[in-house]
Amino acid sequence: MKDQAEMDNSMPTPSKISASGVQVYYGDNHAIKDVNVEIADKTVTAFIGPSGCGKSTFLRCINRMNDTIDVCRVEGDIRIDGEDIYDPKVDPVQLRAKVGMVFQKPNPFPKSIYDNVAYGPKIHGLARDKAELDEIVETALRRGAIWDEVKDRLDAPGTGLSGGQQQRLCIARAVATEPEVLLMDEPCSALDPIATAQVEELIDDLRQRFSVVIVTHSMQQAARVSQRTAFFHLGNLVEMDDTDKIFTNPRDPRTESYISGRIG
Ligand SMILES: Nc1ncnc2c1ncn2[C@@H]1O[C@H](COP(=O)(O)OP(=O)(O)OP(=O)(O)O)[C@@H](O)[C@H]1O
Ligand SMILES: [Mg+2]
Repeated sequence: MKDQAEMDNSMPTPSKISASGVQVYYGDNHAIKDVNVEIADKTVTAFIGPSGCGKSTFLRCINRMNDTIDVCRVEGDIRIDGEDIYDPKVDPVQLRAKVGMVFQKPNPFPKSIYDNVAYGPKIHGLARDKAELDEIVETALRRGAIWDEVKDRLDAPGTGLSGGQQQRLCIARAVATEPEVLLMDEPCSALDPIATAQVEELIDDLRQRFSVVIVTHSMQQAARVSQRTAFFHLGNLVEMDDTDKIFTNPRDPRTESYISGRIG
């Protein structure tokens, strides 16, 4: 615990997300064990670690997506800007507009490109009229680095795009509600190297506006896109530090073994 507190003091910017004493159980399976972490604003934080160590589980705690899994139980305290996101007063739907998520497999709605992006702003009442909605859609598609490719076919189905385009559409959809945090669970694993490079560039851009948390199996990707890296192992957050420190001089032998390819 002391180690983690010391590391957190070296945070480059004030923290956006604070988690303490987080435990997650799926029935009897204790999947996240007493995780304490501070995640900075306007920073990309990478979660790395071997398959099954709990990266996705912990990520889903941050927008209460685990609420949708029957056997899943979350304990502990998670705050965004000091607000307890598990407070019964918090509406998970509102929370998920503020804490957007992008999944491993692009999952556009079976709707037009325009409607994919307009859906969230519509249900959250972010536009007063059609002109304003058009503007929100265009801005989001530009932020998703896909505007030029789709501007002439906004009425075409989102599912008709290529995999890389679909993923950028999903990113545009996630940013359209002006989130404060963007969670990305292996967002590039279904993409080719060109689409991956586009999404990575985009992530770097998004960091100007949000706190971005990305789960990745690629250590090269973590090194390229993130400023902070957290290493998970068997449900424990082993260590978190500046990304270059984790990759050059980690403190824990388990991190060392993982980054040098001996475990995982
Ligand atoms: N929906 C679920 N129901 C039951 N158990 C689950 C569920 N999701 C994850 N688990 C269990 O929780 C543990 C952590 O899984 P999690 O998916 O968070 O790992 P991960 O680090 O994201 O792995 P990967 O890199 O393979 O995606 C595993 O033991 C897994 O079997
Ligand atoms: Mg996962």
